[in-house]
Amino acid sequence: MGKLPKFVQIKEVGPRDGLQNEKKWVSTESKIAWINMLSNTGIKEIEFSSFVNPKMIPALSDAREVGKQISRNPNVVYSALVPNQKGLEYALEAGIDGASVFMSASETHNQKNINKTIQDTYPVLKQVIEEAKAEGKHVTAYISTVFDCPYEGNMKPDAVISICEKLLEYGVDDLSLGDTIGSAVPSQVETLLDDILKRYPTEKVILHFHDTRGMAIANIMTAMNYGIYRFDSSIGGLGGCPYAPGAAGNVATNDVLYLLHRMGVETGINEKRIQEASLYIQNQLGKILPSRSLLASGL
Ligand code: HMG
Ligand code: MG
Repeated sequence: MGKLPKFVQIKEVGPRDGLQNEKKWVSTESKIAWINMLSNTGIKEIEFSSFVNPKMIPALSDAREVGKQISRNPNVVYSALVPNQKGLEYALEAGIDGASVFMSASETHNQKNINKTIQDTYPVLKQVIEEAKAEGKHVTAYISTVFDCPYEGNMKPDAVISICEKLLEYGVDDLSLGDTIGSAVPSQVETLLDDILKRYPTEKVILHFHDTRGMAIANIMTAMNYGIYRFDSSIGGLGGCPYAPGAAGNVATNDVLYLLHRMGVETGINEKRIQEASLYIQNQLGKILPSRSLLASGL
């Protein structure tokens, strides 16, 4: 086993990836109260919402109000999903610190998710990236379906790398590689990282695992053995992409913290406060969240 990193950086995506697939409307006031709780857990980055077409993601149609009304902790970076020029305009108005652009390694998933071919997506993202950078914002690029696509099956690392190359050329600061449907196993993570880390330093690479089949923790362990120390996770294990059939929630922040802290890896995040914030959103949604360590805590 390789040497584990001493410190892992977690980006909390619950308010965005977590809520985007929820049928039950969470009020703007409750979202704000919840994000304010998350801001006091020690988490350093929160993806607070999504500036996409509200008809496609109604659960996050109040992104502007949320962005404007949350209490900002100066130690937290508040980022949001931004698909195009209009989204960037709204996101800047709402006071984002960081923009997350996104596209898919799979042509079919890209078209279902953002209504464009991969080729036609490039000029849209180029403009968003350049303008966000000119405004002094941090820009992360999500690349979805890097391992498997629900429509096209197994993806080849070359498809992922050609997108990484373009987006880095346009100026993104880092790359978040998404196991959108939570299907990857550690050998797939190794195959991709063998290629990716030949080209890019570990600090540029974030992994974004969904936990549909319970493989996310094994995949995170594998990635840490490659020196990766940046992961996305969602409180309680909420989440999923509505345009990727079969995609369950992200790996639960609670479970990642359980693993890391007990293995001596620091995160700066307070587990008790994460459990409290999980219970808050669990009550708002009126359903039990899938995090195993939350369940085991008996709270
Ligand atoms: P489009 O339909 O091609 O765009 O959308 P359009 O330019 O033809 O516009 C259609 C309508 O949307 C118009 O309104 C626009 O004004 C409006 P209408 O005239 O019909 O009333 N519109 C917008 N409104 C507000 N904000 C905007 C915006 N843009 C257009 N920014 C678009 C293209 C990309 C916007 C659309 O397809 C979309 O919103 N897709 C988002 C789908 C999505 O959010 N999926 C989930 C997030 S991705 C994910 O979960 C994966 C990830 O977690 C990583 C992983 O797990 O792998 C990131
Ligand atoms: Mg996701």
